[in-house]
Amino acid sequence: MNRRINNLLAGIAIGAAFGLILTACAPAAQPAQPAQPAQPAQSKVKIGISMSDFATERWKPEADMMKKLLEEKGYEVLVQEANHDVKLQNDQIDNMVAQGVKGLIIVAEDSDAAATAVDKAAKAGVKVIAYDRLIKTPAIAAYLSFNNEEVGRQQALGVMKAVDIDGGKWTKDNPLKLVKLGGSPTDNNAILFRKGQDEILQPYVDKGVIKVVADQWVDNWDPANALKLMENILTAQGNQIDAVVASNDGTALGALQALKAQGLAGKVPISGQDATADGCNSIVKGELTVSILKDIRELAPIAANLMDELLKGQSDPNLKSFTLAQLTNDSKYQGEVMAYFLPVFQVDKSNVFDLVVKSGFQPYDAVYRDVPESERPPKP
Ligand code: BGC
Repeated sequence: MNRRINNLLAGIAIGAAFGLILTACAPAAQPAQPAQPAQPAQSKVKIGISMSDFATERWKPEADMMKKLLEEKGYEVLVQEANHDVKLQNDQIDNMVAQGVKGLIIVAEDSDAAATAVDKAAKAGVKVIAYDRLIKTPAIAAYLSFNNEEVGRQQALGVMKAVDIDGGKWTKDNPLKLVKLGGSPTDNNAILFRKGQDEILQPYVDKGVIKVVADQWVDNWDPANALKLMENILTAQGNQIDAVVASNDGTALGALQALKAQGLAGKVPISGQDATADGCNSIVKGELTVSILKDIRELAPIAANLMDELLKGQSDPNLKSFTLAQLTNDSKYQGEVMAYFLPVFQVDKSNVFDLVVKSGFQPYDAVYRDVPESERPPKP
C-alpha cells in the first residue's frame, strides 16, 4: 500500500516535471511595458480538441481541463465530440484545420482511421498530440498515455487473486471458466489491455487450469453492449462462469447488471478500469473486484503544457522514441513516434479509500453512495 502511494506520488512528481521544464524554458521576465489594448479574440492562436465521445465518464472532464489550461496560456480552444462516429471525427478534424488551428489534441475513436485526417493536418503544419489513445501514423508530434499493458496485467492479476488461481482448487479437471471482455476493437488501447491481460492469463490457459468460455470485444466500449453480450454468454454457459476480465468500469458495470439478474454479482470476480465513481461504488459494495486508477489529473495538464511547448518549437526531454510496431503490437506499422506514459495503480476494496477517496480522485459521497453509515470509513 505504502509503495502504491509512493508510486502515485512519484507519478505526480513526474507530471510536475513537465510544468517545471516549461517554466525553465519560459522567456525571462521582460521590463514592464505600457498597457496594450486587449487583443481581439481572432488574433489568438487556435487549438482544436477532438474527442471520440463523451459517453465514458472520464472524457468530458479531461476536455474541459485541457480547454481551461490552454485558455489560461492565451490560446483559443475549439472542442468537438464525435459521438463514436469515425467519419464525423475525421470531418471535425478537417474542419478545425480549415479554421486555422495550429495544434490538435485528439482522443481517436479509431486508431487507424484517424490517421487519414491527422496526416492531412500534419502536412498543413498542425502539431498533433494523440491523447490517451495512439493514432497509428508517424505524423503525430507526440503520444501521451498511461502504461496500458500494465493496465491489462493489473486487471488480470486482480481477478486471478480473487479466484485464488494458484490455491489448488483449479485444475485440468476443474478449470476456471473465464470470460474475456475486450474494449472497442478499433481502440489501440483495447489491444494493449488485452496483451497485458494475456501475459497473465495465457500460461494458465496453456496448463489447462483456465478454460476461456467466451472471448468478445465490446463495440464502442458501450455498457449496453456489454450487458447484452454477458446475458448471451450466461445463457450459453447455463450461468456456469467463474470469472470475468472486462476492460473498463463502464463495460464491467454493464456485464455486472447481467450477472446481478442471475444472482451472480459479488460471486463472480470481475475487473474494470478508470476508478470511476460508479466503479468505486461497486467495489465498496463488493461487486466489482478491481479497477485501475489512471490519474487523469496528471495527463491533461501534461498535454496542455506539451502543446504549448510544441507550438513554441521547444522539445521536451520527457518524451522518448518508440516504434509504431511496438506500440501497436503489430509489425506492419512502420516508423517511430515520441511518447510518454504515466503509471497506473490497481484499486480494490482494501485500498480504494486511500488511493481514490483520500487522494481526492473521487468524492467520498459518490464512492460510498447507498452504503450504510456504519459500514463507511470516517470522512477524510
Ligand atoms: C481508455 C479508457 C476508457 C476507454 C473507453 C480507452 O482508450 O484508455 O480509460 O475507459 O477508452 O472510453
